[in-house]
Amino acid sequence: MLNQYNLKMPTNVFAGSDAMQNLHTIIKDGVTKITIFTDKGILKVGLLEEVISIIEKNDIEYEILSDIPTEPSYIEAQEVVEHFKALNSDFIIAVGGGSVMDIAKLASVLSTDDYTVKDLLEDPLVAKKQVTTLMIPTTAGTGSEATPNSIVGVPEKNLKVGIVNGELIADHVILESKMIKNLPKPIAAATGIDALAHAIECFTSKKANPISDTFALEALDLIMNNIIEACTNPDALEAKRNMLLGSFYAGVAITSSGTTAVHALSYPLGGKYHIAHGVSNAILLTPVMKFNEPVIKDLLAKAYDRVVKEKDEELTVNEKSKYIIDLIENIVKTLEIPTSLKTFHVPEEDLEGLVEAGMEVQRLLVNNMREVTPEDARKIYLEIM
Ligand SMILES: NC(=O)c1ccc[n+]([C@@H]2O[C@H](COP(=O)([O-])OP(=O)(O)OC[C@H]3O[C@@H](n4cnc5c(N)ncnc54)[C@H](O)[C@@H]3O)[C@@H](O)[C@H]2O)c1
Ligand SMILES: [Zn+2]
Repeated sequence: MLNQYNLKMPTNVFAGSDAMQNLHTIIKDGVTKITIFTDKGILKVGLLEEVISIIEKNDIEYEILSDIPTEPSYIEAQEVVEHFKALNSDFIIAVGGGSVMDIAKLASVLSTDDYTVKDLLEDPLVAKKQVTTLMIPTTAGTGSEATPNSIVGVPEKNLKVGIVNGELIADHVILESKMIKNLPKPIAAATGIDALAHAIECFTSKKANPISDTFALEALDLIMNNIIEACTNPDALEAKRNMLLGSFYAGVAITSSGTTAVHALSYPLGGKYHIAHGVSNAILLTPVMKFNEPVIKDLLAKAYDRVVKEKDEELTVNEKSKYIIDLIENIVKTLEIPTSLKTFHVPEEDLEGLVEAGMEVQRLLVNNMREVTPEDARKIYLEIM
């Protein structure tokens, strides 16, 4: 655990019933032109309607940027940023999942010609916030609405890379559960496991600290007790609301702690094979937790004490730890997320490339409680092939 720690937060977070109505207050003063970042999937299901109606009621000019690809590369991100610059807006609203929010956040620090997304890959800290942002997540989720991170693909490295800069943190967030009410099950499941991974990785990270633990444990409790209901029962509004809160808290935990080997080894799977971020994390979550178990048993036992409602007081630390890993494995299976790279036809001859790319993600591997050597990474990748 760190001796010194820090927490960063969006300035204004609105949640609860009809949270979207707060948009009136947010844009009332001084906003002259809004750009809405979104994607085609979200437009199609009508999730922009309430946002647009509120903007129109306030008589503010707006444009919609909906050409945002899923899990964009830095080149695709730059194209959207160029489009945004030409619009001369003074306010950004992102309505979408992590892909949309991450690009909107990048645009908020790249509205002048000083730097490009590629420059930020080399030196993320040079950029400063230029345009005020509001994040409205439609998945639960990446927690991008809370974090200082934007993740982009780097095709030449077969990797996804996180650009991390406190200036990327949103100014405003609206957690509106209507946004995830009709989330299709495969997306709800994969993005829900991403949030679960954020929570458990932050809680078992070398960077964990009392502040991040507060958010990570609450996130774990909310996510593990609601994810199945939220993903499988369309009418389970309470469970969905809890998932939205849980994924936000897990994002807050990231700002103070950090993810570990699950996310590190997952980046090459997204970068090279374009496996959705939540799915690649779901594939790796149980194997990495089992690899880490010898050094995180006490933490997993604490997670048991917090998450499990009908506790068996007789259980030992070993048994509690195993219970939590089994529960994670069961959640992934019940939600029918792939658990192997076979589904994605990854050939075994790619193994060494994966190990090499995974080991490059030292930014996150250094957070892992158990050291991950190239040999360990090879074993973990082999296990999921
Ligand atoms: N910045 C961060 O802190 C952070 C953290 C984790 C992941 N990420 C990044 O976020 C991206 C993944 O984001 P994601 O998992 O939220 O998915 P996504 O944004 O890529 O969206 C996936 C698909 O779901 C659709 N969709 C989203 N919400 C919907 C809704 N309510 N109804 C119907 N369809 C909907 C989208 O149209 C899209 O087709 C990855 O690039 C990942 O690396 C960022
Ligand atoms: Zn993630």
